[in-house]
Amino acid sequence: MSKKKIVFSAIQPTGNLHIGNYLGAVRNWVELQKNEDYECIFCIADYHAMTGDKTAQDRRDQIILMAAELLALGIDPKKSTFFVQSHVPEHTELAWIFNTITPLAELERMTQFKDKSKKQAKNINTGLLTYPILQAADILMYKGNFVPVGQDQIQHVELTRDTARWFNNRYGEYFPETEALLTETPKIMSLLEPTRKMSKSYGLSHVLELADEPEVILAKLKKAVTASEPGEKSPGVENLLLLLKNFADETVYNNFVEAEKNGTIKYGELKETLAQAIGDYFADFRENRTQYLEDRSFLATVLSEGEIKASKIAKASMKEVRHLIGIR
Ligand code: AMP
Ligand code: TRP
Repeated sequence: MSKKKIVFSAIQPTGNLHIGNYLGAVRNWVELQKNEDYECIFCIADYHAMTGDKTAQDRRDQIILMAAELLALGIDPKKSTFFVQSHVPEHTELAWIFNTITPLAELERMTQFKDKSKKQAKNINTGLLTYPILQAADILMYKGNFVPVGQDQIQHVELTRDTARWFNNRYGEYFPETEALLTETPKIMSLLEPTRKMSKSYGLSHVLELADEPEVILAKLKKAVTASEPGEKSPGVENLLLLLKNFADETVYNNFVEAEKNGTIKYGELKETLAQAIGDYFADFRENRTQYLEDRSFLATVLSEGEIKASKIAKASMKEVRHLIGIR
């Protein structure tokens, strides 16, 4: 085993990535994999996505799409282990073991469970409840030390720490304590309802997708909520300025911040400048994404190489875990 700290994260394959996913998590993944102190493992969480309402064909397409998008953003399978969760079925075995040590009440108080139960009231399946247990299994299978995610996942990473403690207390010290790693932008807000996080579940006009063409970005930004009076503090304007800070030149950003302070800001101009900056920033991404999507056999090869690397670690972990809990 290497002495490097293990970075583990995952994302559900549920369509195109949006700017919240990028600024909250994936940009950080790409940075972390450049750091020699870390061993990075990134996973497409297709078992987790099964708690939603997708068809089998949707699932096939979305796994491929997520692989193409992550590679296009710079996830490098030579530097990181990059694989599909269901290709390593040991994850579900470890999740079962964690089921037996997790108090029900801990799952029932999870914010995401409560939110999703409201959003998909006709499909409150048990997987929605036990979702964080599978997430703990993902992370602890690889003895993950750091988990780069957005703010909405902190509660799940805390539950992972608890899971490790419950296991270690009962069966002996084995799993490490895991910590969430946040970026400076852990929560990007919706364009249309900037008091809520940016999420596709509210509708596509709430989010900017990384694959959106420049004219789509502009059209969506034009509808974004700002403030009724220039200079008035508003979450919508704060959110747009935060995006500008991340995608435009510093001087451009500083000028708009200044204009906001002295009440001369023109929201139309802010939106056009921001649309241009985001469109430019992701131009290469859009091109790479198209190319990857045209080469499905390359994507399949990358994922099967990732599967081999991840499986090796997962098999070794499960051998030890089965022994610790006394079933082998
Ligand atoms: P999901 O699409 O829910 O699988 O989320 C993938 C990653 O993006 C997770 O690390 C989330 O915490 C992060 N994320 C999702 N939405 C946002 C947002 N609006 N702002 C920042 N991070 C986000
Ligand atoms: N639940 C995470 C999300 O919705 C995705 C996920 C699954 C994950 N397993 C994980 C994130 C392990 C970090 C670590 O974004």
